[in-house]
Amino acid sequence: YHPHKVQFVTSAPSLAHCPLPDRPEIVFLGRSNVGKSSLINTITGKRSIALTSKTPGRTRLLNYFDVNDELYLVDLPGYGFARVSTSMRDQWNRHMYQYLECRENIAMAVMIVDIRHEAQKNDLRMFNLLGQWQIPTLIVATKSDKLKKSQLAPHIDKLRKSYGSKCALMPFSSASKYGIEEFWWEVTKRQIV
Ligand code: GTP
Ligand code: MG
Repeated sequence: YHPHKVQFVTSAPSLAHCPLPDRPEIVFLGRSNVGKSSLINTITGKRSIALTSKTPGRTRLLNYFDVNDELYLVDLPGYGFARVSTSMRDQWNRHMYQYLECRENIAMAVMIVDIRHEAQKNDLRMFNLLGQWQIPTLIVATKSDKLKKSQLAPHIDKLRKSYGSKCALMPFSSASKYGIEEFWWEVTKRQIV
């Protein structure tokens, strides 16, 4: 699959502002600063269509990108960001949960985790919720460039043990651009596009 046409659509400040659900969409979630926006740039081949930052919590809105006029990619705000107040975080979580539960055109969720870290509590929680909502989920373990080659398989195995042997999980790196084809294969084999 080749994303030959990629366009920024809109930043929706709230659920009321999101575009019509007239095409399938893939939502990207994960802890803040894990590399969600970088991953969107990498798989679309656009260096900075999604804003990235060294500072966690950069993405605060729902950002929509259209691919080939047939698919939305949605960059969601990261969860688990410490520097916002608890009440604001609760409010965001409620909004995000409501979105994931109610948005009818979600074809797949991509949960991004750091390949160097063991499964985190809030990731496991999110993974279970996605299962409850029956949203097909792909776990993308990013920043694989930070590990030695020999360490890749053991880290993937460990994550697989935490999320269940049947989960879809793949290594990725935005820095080395490792996993782009594999990512789009995961999308096309589910017949989303
Ligand atoms: P929020 O929107 O704040 O939740 O963050 P995010 O998950 O969108 O992360 P973002 O893509 O902004 O990346 C965060 C930091 O990680 C940036 O400094 C990126 O350059 C870096 N980064 C992202 N992906 C990779 C990767 O594959 N390898 C390496 N080495 N660094 C990465
Ligand atoms: Mg981001």
